[in-house]
Amino acid sequence: MVDIRKVKDDDKSHVRTLELFCIREYLESSLQKKWDDLPSELIEQLGASAKDSFEFYRDTGLSYVAVEKGQVVGFLFSQIIEHVNNIDKVLWIDNVGVHPDHRRKGVGLKLLRRASIDAKKKGAKAVQSVLMPDSKNAVMLHKKAGFFLDGRKFAFLDLENFE
Ligand SMILES: CC(C)(COP(=O)(O)OP(=O)(O)OC[C@H]1O[C@@H](n2cnc3c(N)ncnc32)[C@H](O)[C@@H]1OP(=O)(O)O)[C@@H](O)C(=O)NCCC(=O)NCCS
Repeated sequence: MVDIRKVKDDDKSHVRTLELFCIREYLESSLQKKWDDLPSELIEQLGASAKDSFEFYRDTGLSYVAVEKGQVVGFLFSQIIEHVNNIDKVLWIDNVGVHPDHRRKGVGLKLLRRASIDAKKKGAKAVQSVLMPDSKNAVMLHKKAGFFLDGRKFAFLDLENFE
């Protein structure tokens, strides 16, 4: 039986390991990037569970772990954004992942559903989820959960050295 509960400080190292595993899996299968070739400083910054980011997501009150027999088998990191594309209060899901041994058992759906219900209680009007473009599992999960995929992509600009 899988329990979905809010992420806690004690989950930090387990959820970090699982999120990095999912990111690695995606990078190696989709982008053919060798994980061992990535600089360790870059790996440290990847994902919502990264050192400088975990506390932020814990404090949104909208980030969760899926736990089975005391083990973290899934996670979802999200936050409410005040205004996106003419909609006030949108639940923005930054990452969701499930351990490979626990996939196709409804854990991903449960995580999405719990986050959506809690966000609705906080006044959210819609949910947007960040998908890696060629992650078939993620696309299928979101379709099954009732999301509408209109082919939009996000473009990203780092402003650190921007003038
Ligand atoms: C995407 C992911 C979170 C799905 O988690 P999950 O717990 O396996 O999903 P569920 O069991 O709740 O699946 C629900 C539905 O999604 C669809 N689905 C999920 N994985 C699928 C797959 N590999 N192929 C086809 N359909 C799939 C199915 O419709 C499934 O329902 P069904 O099993 O009754 O057919 C998981 O595959 C994962 O962690 N992938 C790696 C990380 C990732 O891609 N994260 C997404 C952010 S980019």
